Amino acid sequence: MYQDFSMVAPHSKRPVSEDKIFAASRQAGEAVTKYGFENVINSTVGALLDDNGDLLVMPTIIEILKNLPPAEIAAYAPIAGLPEYLEAAKTAAFRDHRPLGYIEAIATPGGSGAIRHTIWNYSEMGDSILTSDWYWGPYKTIAEEHGRKISTYNFFDEDNNFNIKSFKENLSRLLEAQDRAVILLNSPAHNPTGFTLALSEWEKVISTIKEFAKNKNKKIILFSDIAYIDFAGETNESRKFMKFFGGLPENILVIVAFSMSKGYTLYGMRSGAMMCVSSSKTVAEEFKNVCQFSNRGVWSNGTRSAMKILSEIFNNEDLLNRVESERQELKDLLDRRAKAFLEEANKVGLEICPYKSGFFITVPCDNPVKVSEKLKKENIFLVPLQKGLRFAVCSVSEEKCRKAPAKLLEAMK
Ligand SMILES: Cc1ncc(COP(=O)(O)O)c(C=O)c1O
Repeated sequence: MYQDFSMVAPHSKRPVSEDKIFAASRQAGEAVTKYGFENVINSTVGALLDDNGDLLVMPTIIEILKNLPPAEIAAYAPIAGLPEYLEAAKTAAFRDHRPLGYIEAIATPGGSGAIRHTIWNYSEMGDSILTSDWYWGPYKTIAEEHGRKISTYNFFDEDNNFNIKSFKENLSRLLEAQDRAVILLNSPAHNPTGFTLALSEWEKVISTIKEFAKNKNKKIILFSDIAYIDFAGETNESRKFMKFFGGLPENILVIVAFSMSKGYTLYGMRSGAMMCVSSSKTVAEEFKNVCQFSNRGVWSNGTRSAMKILSEIFNNEDLLNRVESERQELKDLLDRRAKAFLEEANKVGLEICPYKSGFFITVPCDNPVKVSEKLKKENIFLVPLQKGLRFAVCSVSEEKCRKAPAKLLEAMK
């Protein structure tokens, strides 16, 4: 048989490579076996782990799950999601800052499902999807899986603020080439940098897209990825930007992606929702119909038990209080780790991307793969990105977060 013989249809032929994150994580596991856990820094995992490397799970969530009647665990959910879940997801996502307008929601398997349906239903085959130059790798995977490409603008300007100029230039270029623009914007607590747009920066983003939307032949879809919002400061303070999503022209559609993965520590239960905010009832109803069709056509329905958990939390004040205080402990832990890393980085003079909050800190560097290979020899495992190194403060003890910056700087020299 010829070595290049293939059964796969041409559109699905992909370069074969092991997922970078899982590859580094596997190597870290091997190092732990060889050298002992205390001698290895495994900062590859994008989940909150305790200081011993075990997954942190909110006890109340698991208690609710264990108390569910068997049928609520085993049964199908409606294709669009349980109605009470969709209401709970809206409350969980917007809290006190529900924007004015028509809001419809569809359950999806995590925020990933929302990204998929947005790209598929709101861009055309071959289109470019706009995001920042630092972005979560699966944006590209999902775009390419569906015959789209990613195009980027510079996230930061020379003062490490949101680069509105680059955003505007690249959106303009994109809208010259195509009639619709899907913009993936992950804030607050952006992955991989930990950056959060300030309210004044959001204002500029919205006024920029409104400017482009004056041309009624153009359609702009602003996808607000809030995967890490529950780790980005005070609940309602971190959601203030959502007020800008109301009262927009009908050719701007906002889609908010809610996820239960981080904020409810239910990563593997694959539960989330996509919510549209539109000033047009027709556009909102169309969103619901189209995304419900996509659910049926791709994964059928979501995980009923996870939907039940969120519904119960938002129907019971006591449960909500318990969940919030358990989450506060996780937030405090994360903040202590990030603070340790930042203080040390500052002390040794390690330059990092502007971090505000979240699971990851990113160090820009010239030869990320080479530097990360060097660090492996020191038993430090992190994820090389195109333009830097991603250090997951979420999965490493405060002590190790404090040790890492000097080692990173050393390896970069
Ligand atoms: C930026 C970003 N968006 C969305 C997601 C979606 O996660 P999930 O599909 O588990 O909700 C993640 C998960 O790591 C993420 O980092």
